[in-house]
Amino acid sequence: MPRRPATADPLPAALAAPALVSGAPPAGYHLQFASDNTAGVCPEALAAFAQANTGFAASYGNDDATHTVCDRLREVFEADAEVFFVFNGTAANSTALAALCQSYQAVVCSDTAHVHTDECGAPEFFSGGSKLLTVPARQGKLTTAGLTEAIERRSDIHYPRARAVTLTQSTEQGTLYQRGEISGLARVAHAHGMKVHMDGARFANAVASLGCAPADITWRAGVDVLCLGGTKMGLPVGEAILFFDRQLGADFAYRAKQAGQLASKMRFVSSPWLAMLEGGTWLRHAGHANAMAHRLAEKVAALPGAELLLPPEANGVFVSLPEAAIARLRAAGWAFYTFIGGGARFMCSWATTPEAVDHLAHDIGAALAAG
Ligand SMILES: Cc1ncc(COP(=O)(O)O)c(C=O)c1O
Repeated sequence: MPRRPATADPLPAALAAPALVSGAPPAGYHLQFASDNTAGVCPEALAAFAQANTGFAASYGNDDATHTVCDRLREVFEADAEVFFVFNGTAANSTALAALCQSYQAVVCSDTAHVHTDECGAPEFFSGGSKLLTVPARQGKLTTAGLTEAIERRSDIHYPRARAVTLTQSTEQGTLYQRGEISGLARVAHAHGMKVHMDGARFANAVASLGCAPADITWRAGVDVLCLGGTKMGLPVGEAILFFDRQLGADFAYRAKQAGQLASKMRFVSSPWLAMLEGGTWLRHAGHANAMAHRLAEKVAALPGAELLLPPEANGVFVSLPEAAIARLRAAGWAFYTFIGGGARFMCSWATTPEAVDHLAHDIGAALAAG
């Protein structure tokens, strides 16, 4: 792993006075809006992890907890899907896309897609060379016009044929695809013999925000495979892959094993998943994260000098701020990215508190007022 940087950026340097926070702030307090995976493990998942640690269980996913959670996911999604677990989102996306494409084929994605910007070429690597064909995103989303353009860009032997399209739900820019947008894109893709992949690193936030059945924005809208994020909703590790078209997942167990993605002690991945699905815990936590983002967006929108770049539809808030204000916020200790979405990105999680949101909004206001 990399060494801790000599300069502490973006780690807290001088902490802002936590005037609005009661009690001692938790460790890493100022990191909490940098990403939804700076949060810890939610209590339900942690308890399930500890509970799984009794006695012996079959390995490599042949244990009861893994069988149960696969069935539970099939119930939640109302589909007889093939279900697998891998360690992280990059592995989920890239191995799932590799299952859809030959090395000489291509995947259409938006130019803001995580698979394109943040996976270090893993989709190309795991597929043995499938090219990503990027299309300009509109509010973080692919459009049918963009998808059609990418498909029809070239038809000669010198250019790879589009075989899959990938959509991120919720998007990298905190927006959501409505059901009709997904089915419109899927219709175009299927008409061209393509498969539809969904990067659902923040799928829970989308379901919680849209208030729909998970099936409505996946297989019923034409999605063939979903990478369902676990880490961002409060798990320690582990993402699920659901092949709604079971044929596409026929050999996936071998692919996951070859990629180093088959957990031997799988019960410790699957048991926390089970706890998240129990009684809708996953959606409760995602709904909370969304509510915190809305709270932040409302407060920031009211600040002179701040501009919301996009409607906050899930758990991220993207704000345009003057450089001086960004520097002041960083000097006050707040960590956040500015290379995603063209502004300052603030992410909320299951662990974000209203007090922390108010504190951040207060400090943004102070940073803006300082000129
Ligand atoms: C849209 C999206 N997809 C996938 C991932 C998962 O990536 P990782 O490999 O870090 O788990 C992330 C993480 O930030 C993401 O934002």
